[in-house]
Amino acid sequence: MNKEIRLNAFDMNCVGHIQQGLWTHPRDQSCRYLELAYWTDYAKRLEAGLFDGLFFADVVGVYDVLGASPDAALRGAVQVPVNDPMMLIPAMASVTQHLGFGVTANLSYEPPYLFARRMSTLDHLTKGRIGWNIVTGYLDSAARAAGLSGQSGHDDRYDLADEYMSLVYQLWEGSWDDGAVLADRLRGVYADPSKVRLVQHQGPQYRVQAMHLSEPSPQRTPLLYQAGSSARGSRFAATHAECVFLNGQSLPGVKAIVDSIRRQAVLQGRAGADIKVWLGATVITAQTDAQAEEKFDEYKRYASSEAALVHAAASMGIDFAKYDIDEPIETGKSQAIVSNVDAMTRSAGPQWTRRKLLSQMVLGSRQTPWVGSADRIAQQLIDWSIAADLDGFNLSRTVVPECFDDLIALVVPRLQERGAYKTAYTPGTLRNKLFGRDRLAASHPVAQYRRQAV
Ligand SMILES: Cc1cc2nc3c(=O)[nH]c(=O)nc-3n(C[C@H](O)[C@H](O)[C@H](O)COP(=O)(O)O)c2cc1C
Repeated sequence: MNKEIRLNAFDMNCVGHIQQGLWTHPRDQSCRYLELAYWTDYAKRLEAGLFDGLFFADVVGVYDVLGASPDAALRGAVQVPVNDPMMLIPAMASVTQHLGFGVTANLSYEPPYLFARRMSTLDHLTKGRIGWNIVTGYLDSAARAAGLSGQSGHDDRYDLADEYMSLVYQLWEGSWDDGAVLADRLRGVYADPSKVRLVQHQGPQYRVQAMHLSEPSPQRTPLLYQAGSSARGSRFAATHAECVFLNGQSLPGVKAIVDSIRRQAVLQGRAGADIKVWLGATVITAQTDAQAEEKFDEYKRYASSEAALVHAAASMGIDFAKYDIDEPIETGKSQAIVSNVDAMTRSAGPQWTRRKLLSQMVLGSRQTPWVGSADRIAQQLIDWSIAADLDGFNLSRTVVPECFDDLIALVVPRLQERGAYKTAYTPGTLRNKLFGRDRLAASHPVAQYRRQAV
C-alpha cells in the first residue's frame, strides 16, 4: 500500500491560465468558459475520476508589467478576460456529490463582513465542499482598480491578512453557537437570540460590529488553502493554512519548503500533518512514452512564449522588456510573488536572463510538463509524493478537457493498482474527506473564537 495521492484540477474562469497559447489548439475547449454547461460537464468528469477538487485561481487586475502595457495580455488571453470563479460553484455542486471546490479570493479588496457571508452561502449550497485560497494579490493594476495608487508592501499585505483572518474567524465561528438554529415550527421560533452574538472587532485595518448573517454552515470556516512560500508567506501558511499549494521544479527545493512549512506549523502548536501540501504539476500522458512525446510535440506547436512572458513578468513583478535577451535580470526585492523569483533564481542561478527564462517555457509557462506513459507518470507522482512529503498535486490544464480525460482513463487506474489512489470517495464535507473532521482542529487559531468546544 503506497501513500495516498490526492488530485485537484487547477483552472481559472478564463481562456489562458498557466500553459499560455494552448487555447488555439483545435481540440481545446477553454474558449467555452462562458457556458455553464462547459463547467458542469467538467465537474462531472473530475468526479468520475475521483478528483478531490477543482481549484480555481483568480486575479482582480490585468497583466500590464511586460512593456508597461496590457496589450499583449489581451491579445494572448493571458488571464484576461477573467470572470468571477465563485459564480460557477453552485452550478457545479448541483451536478456532483463529492467534488470539492477551492476558490481563490483576494482579501485585499473584499470587505470581510460581506466576504464571510458569501463563503458561508457557498458552504451551505455545496454541503460543505468549499475551500478558500487566501491571497493578498500581487498586481499594482488591481490596487489601482480599487482606487489605490499601488499595492502595499509584500510583508505588509500579510500583516493585513492576519487581521482579516481573525475577523472572518470570529464571524464564522464565534457569532452563532452550535444549537442556535431551532427551526421549531410548533413554537414559531427559528433561531434562539441568546445564542447569537455581535462580533466586536477594532483593529488597525478593520472595524466591525455585527453578527454574522448566515447561520452555521457544515464546515463553518471553509477549507483554507494558501500559496505563498516566501519567508513571510510560509509563516502565514503555517499559522492559518490547511492546504498549501507550491510550485517548484527541483525535488530537493520542494522538499526543503515542505519541511520548513511543517516545522513552522509545529512551532505554532499545530501538527505537521495538519497541513496537506499540493505541488503544481502539468502532465501529458498516453498509452506509451512515444505516444506521450508525440502529443507533447503536437501541443508545443500551439504554445505562446510571448504570452508566457507576460504572465511571468506580472507574477515576478519584473518588466523583462527592459532587458536585452542576454542581459542579466535585476531581481531586486520583488513586491509580487517572491517565491516565483526565488524559484527562477534557484533553477537558473543568480545571473539569469530572458533567454534562460524563455528556454524554460517549453509549453507556455515555466512549469515543465511531466511527459510519459501512464506507468511512468504514476510512478513519478508516487516517487515525488514520498520523497518530497507531498499529499497531492494541483494539475494545470493543457488541452482541456482531454488532458483530464487522459489522466483519468490512463493514470488513475495505475495509481489505484499501486494502492496510491482512492477507489471511492469518503462521504461528507471537503474537510472530512481530507482530514476526517468537519471543523478545524482545536490547535488552529480559529478555536479561540469558538464559544463551545467542538
Ligand atoms: C502556486 C501559486 C498559485 C498562486 N495563485 C494565485 C492566484 O490565483 N491569485 C493570486 O492573486 N495570487 C496567487 N498566488 C500568489 C500567492 O498566493 C501570494 O499571495 C503572494 O503572491 C505572495 O507569495 P509569496 O509569499 O510567495 O511571495 C499564487 C502563488 C503560488 C506560488
